[in-house]
Amino acid sequence: MKNILLGITGGIAAYKSVELCRRLRDVGYQVRVVMTASATEFVTPLTFQAVSGFPVHRDIFDEAAEAAMGHIELARWADRILIAPTTADFIAKLAHGLADDLLSTICLASQASISIAPAMNQQMWQAEATQANLQQLIQRKVQIIGPGVGDQACGEQGPGRMLEPLAIIDELLQPVSQALAGQHWLITAGPTREAIDPVRFLSNNSSGKMGYAIAKAAQRMGAKVTLVSGPVSIDVPAGVSRVAVVTAEQMEQAVMQQVSDADVFVACAAVADYKPAAIAEQKIKKNAKTMEIKLIKNPDILQQVGALKNKPLCIGFAAETENVEYYAKDKLQRKNLDMICANNVAKKDIGFDSEENELVLYCKNGDSVALDQNAKYTIASDLVSEIKNRFF
Ligand SMILES: Cc1cc2nc3c(=O)[nH]c(=O)nc-3n(C[C@H](O)[C@H](O)[C@H](O)COP(=O)(O)O)c2cc1C
Repeated sequence: MKNILLGITGGIAAYKSVELCRRLRDVGYQVRVVMTASATEFVTPLTFQAVSGFPVHRDIFDEAAEAAMGHIELARWADRILIAPTTADFIAKLAHGLADDLLSTICLASQASISIAPAMNQQMWQAEATQANLQQLIQRKVQIIGPGVGDQACGEQGPGRMLEPLAIIDELLQPVSQALAGQHWLITAGPTREAIDPVRFLSNNSSGKMGYAIAKAAQRMGAKVTLVSGPVSIDVPAGVSRVAVVTAEQMEQAVMQQVSDADVFVACAAVADYKPAAIAEQKIKKNAKTMEIKLIKNPDILQQVGALKNKPLCIGFAAETENVEYYAKDKLQRKNLDMICANNVAKKDIGFDSEENELVLYCKNGDSVALDQNAKYTIASDLVSEIKNRFF
């Protein structure tokens, strides 16, 4: 599922769809936006053009568009259609198969699955007509995302608020399969922090995005997922349980507590190799011209898991800046892993703290697989599928 057509209809919540559009791109979708005439009263097409990176489609009788990508082409292009916000009016149109504007015509002409995120005044939502229309859509397997309950733009309270962009994406990505049902995946993510004194620490550039994306992808395929995470500022994916840690030692303890129950261990965290031998009790003052911090080795969590008698399937990560293949293969062997995911973090645009990544997977049996540069969630989904297909 790579191509998503984002339909915007004429509700006040259209402003939230600007962020939604950006977030859809973050999780790996190519987005084309189609707006109804009313929607353009709320947000300009130019805004969506800038955020999606493509011209916005509005008019069914647009000769220029027809030549390049008319309503049928857009209908075929889409793997998925998401309409957010969806007005009461558009729900009625969908339910009755109307095709009097570009968006409704595309919906009728497409085989893509349709998801809608309704947004409207609570009376409009609860109106008998709207509810009857919704029932028809549910019967036709249209996915209804939300709405939420609470304060409304019109000053009323009740059901009808459009869900927030991330919540919509979480619903949209609900288990695509049950391929990993019954399995427990234990995943580490993010950096660790090793204190020097009460206000300073040693750490690294890991954002945690890759580990979180893997957790999300495994959960979407039906696995029970435990994410042991160092300090990061990312929301926990829906359905994933997180154990928050700070230091390598805490991460080691959390992993060793969970590992006997795990089928798969993915070590994606950038664990600090060393920590200060002693933590100063008070903030260190800058009196001396130079200073030295003595470092001692941290526990090697992946090595410990790889050495267990009943070890789970072990997947490691090797973030390297040179000789990537050599170091990755060495780590694969030394730590008794089943697969290692190598990435060259010296490359611009991928790796630490970026939105994209590219990996080469080296397997115990000598196979290697390249996952070309893409959004981290797409890479994560491909990685989880590869693990599933090879080992289960
Ligand atoms: C300020 C304003 C806000 C509106 N907000 C909504 C809304 O949140 N939900 C809704 O169903 N209709 C809302 N409407 C009414 C729709 O814009 C109207 O039904 C329109 O015909 C919908 O056209 P469309 O479904 O083709 O986009 C609003 C109208 C105005 C003037």
